[in-house]
Amino acid sequence: MKILLTGGTGYIGSHTAVELLNVNHEIVIIDNLCNSQNIVIDKIRDITKKDVKFYEGDVGDELLLNQIFKTEKIDAVIHFAGLKSVGESVVKPLEYYQNNLTSTLSLLLVMKKYGCKNIVFSSSATVYGNPHALPIKEDFPLSATNPYGSTKLMIENFLQDLYISDNSWHIAILRYFNPIGAHYSGLIGDNPKGTPNNLMPYILKVASKEKDKLLVFGDDYETIDGTGVRDYIHVVDLAIGHIKALDYLFNNQGLEIFNLGTGEGYSVLQIINTFMKVNNIDIPYVIEKRRAGDIGACFADVSKAKEKLNWEPTKDLKNMCEDAYNFYKTKQ
Ligand code: NAD
Ligand code: WQD
Repeated sequence: MKILLTGGTGYIGSHTAVELLNVNHEIVIIDNLCNSQNIVIDKIRDITKKDVKFYEGDVGDELLLNQIFKTEKIDAVIHFAGLKSVGESVVKPLEYYQNNLTSTLSLLLVMKKYGCKNIVFSSSATVYGNPHALPIKEDFPLSATNPYGSTKLMIENFLQDLYISDNSWHIAILRYFNPIGAHYSGLIGDNPKGTPNNLMPYILKVASKEKDKLLVFGDDYETIDGTGVRDYIHVVDLAIGHIKALDYLFNNQGLEIFNLGTGEGYSVLQIINTFMKVNNIDIPYVIEKRRAGDIGACFADVSKAKEKLNWEPTKDLKNMCEDAYNFYKTKQ
């Protein structure tokens, strides 16, 4: 099958590209490189020894999308492209709405025009807001606490409405929990432009001494050690979840939502300690006050993905910390 990856040079998109090529799908990538670099295309080719077609451009550019769909005969789309920083979205809400929403509308309109009705969408655990119970199931109430989260919820609504209007679409909404780690080759990984806000990219800056210490946001949550608990998932396991979702889509009409996490929660201190142990490196940290908007704990019930997609994560926290640092050292 020929799969179009929007945002395919980004962190999750590049790992998914590798896994798709490994199982002999053909891939086409469109990315405007606002948070990635075109060298990633060479890295994907180096890892897989397979070819990748790359269009540098914006998903909101309908002329370009028309050209791609006309020449490439796309069977399915995995839609990763989007801006993803929660904090930045609070400062630049209009830019987030414009980039994430209008590009998705353009994409869906062009898909409809060319009769390509298979789509996997990158949603996020952020759509659960502050969950009333744990682990989080797909049918829990949804809410947005920031513009980034609103864009994810709105796009989920676009897809629901589209499916209601025409139930010959095949749609998978994947709600990722906290992806970390990198490809074992060390050639691709999380390489955001600008200063990172997420925990693992920040730990890597401290490991490399670009930052002198990590600020741990709060130690007074009702968790194992008071620090925030999240469901971290190795990015390669997450990428394989997309292959399973595509297989599911090709065989089942409908709209399905899946949580992709491991189902296990780890605290900030557990992450720091595992990282220090497996990489034999010190990570100085200080306890700070809680970060605005944070919740104490968040982890997934992944039984639906296990059952319907026949998918199960295989990599543990040790692998995640080792592979993240390996990539970081390699790219220096
Ligand atoms: P990323 O920033 O590494 O990748 C996104 C890619 O999309 C980048 O390469 C960027 O250049 C590109 N892009 C953005 N807007 C574009 C546009 N209008 N046209 C073309 N290209 C565009 O992010 P990621 O971590 O790989 O995330 C991929 C998707 O998964 C995003 O939609 C994100 O919201 C979602 N998600 C990520 C996480 C996470 O923690 N990384 C968690 C949940 C959901
Ligand atoms: C994890 C834990 C922090 C940085 C965000 C988005 C979510 C999704 C994934 C896209 C929390 C603590 C962090 C630091 C810290 N992205 N922390 N010091 O907030 O769970 O989720 O990224 O969809 O939508 O909200 O991830 O990595 O920022 O934080 O103590 O310097 O680490 O308080 O407990 P988060 P994170």
